[in-house]
Amino acid sequence: MQELFEERIKKINPDILNQLDKKDEFSFRLNAHRGGENAVEMLKEEGFEPKKVDWAEDVYTLPIKDRKRVVKSKAYTQNRIYIQNLSSIFAAYSLDIDKDDWVLDLAAAPGGKSLIFSERAKKVSAVEPDRQRYFRMRRNFKEHKASNIQTYNKDGRFIYKSCPGWFDKVFLDAPCSSEAHMDGEVTWWNLRRVRRFSKLQKELVISAFESLKDGGQMIYATCTFSPEENEEVVDFLLKNYPNAKILPVNPPFDNYQKGITSWDGKEYDKRVQESVRILPKGAYSGFFMAKIAKS
Ligand SMILES: C[S@@+](CC[C@H](N)C(=O)[O-])C[C@H]1O[C@@H](n2cnc3c(N)ncnc32)[C@H](O)[C@@H]1O
Repeated sequence: MQELFEERIKKINPDILNQLDKKDEFSFRLNAHRGGENAVEMLKEEGFEPKKVDWAEDVYTLPIKDRKRVVKSKAYTQNRIYIQNLSSIFAAYSLDIDKDDWVLDLAAAPGGKSLIFSERAKKVSAVEPDRQRYFRMRRNFKEHKASNIQTYNKDGRFIYKSCPGWFDKVFLDAPCSSEAHMDGEVTWWNLRRVRRFSKLQKELVISAFESLKDGGQMIYATCTFSPEENEEVVDFLLKNYPNAKILPVNPPFDNYQKGITSWDGKEYDKRVQESVRILPKGAYSGFFMAKIAKS
């Protein structure tokens, strides 16, 4: 399996393999619900030197060696900061949320992205079918004082049936084969798993799109590299919904590449080039995202 995994990743971009186990930084976001504005000063008082990223005012990085000490710091234990990967934060920030919006987070636990939406939107609906992850997510929202999030212990595939066209914005951070988190020997990865996730993701992307209002916007995202779980899912949506339009994403950093249009003998709709595969580097882990508008 190791060989097949590496062969596939090399076809996408050979640099990915070199970066998978080289995480030298981590990142965090200030939690506006809990006095995040004081967190950087508090961390500095405890001897840390957080560096602000240049594309957001409330996102910082620190060397990975500081992580264990940071989770014992006052800023962290008082929930003034939320540790979250830079790629995830960037993807959530890329959804163009207005303050009156109702946002659906269709695969939400542990809830890091819903916490971001809750600071920017009027209300958020967070869906998670796994009971344990669901209750942990609820605790997370409470601890971070995010009071405008409603939670639903439901399967995202069927949400559109009870809420067709309800939401201004939808984020689908789909369950996936998590190849971006593979940093050692390949033990749990296989192609059958990739294909199983691809099938589930196609059902979820339909539910996400059907739940979206006309004129609304959604993001489809995964933390995996396989085109079957990424471009193929976007291609599937574009083929089935002529009113789906893919919008460009222009990351303000250089560790990314555009979506690929052919894989394993299949040709995808050329528009999937507008999607973005974030390549692992520093506090960014591998990620895929596509921004979609509904007309
Ligand atoms: C990548 S994680 C989401 C991470 C989350 N968005 C965050 O930023 O904190 C994917 C989640 O989808 C959930 N999931 C699995 N099957 C699902 C389904 N059928 N409908 C909705 N969510 C599902 C998983 O349990 C997992 O919690």
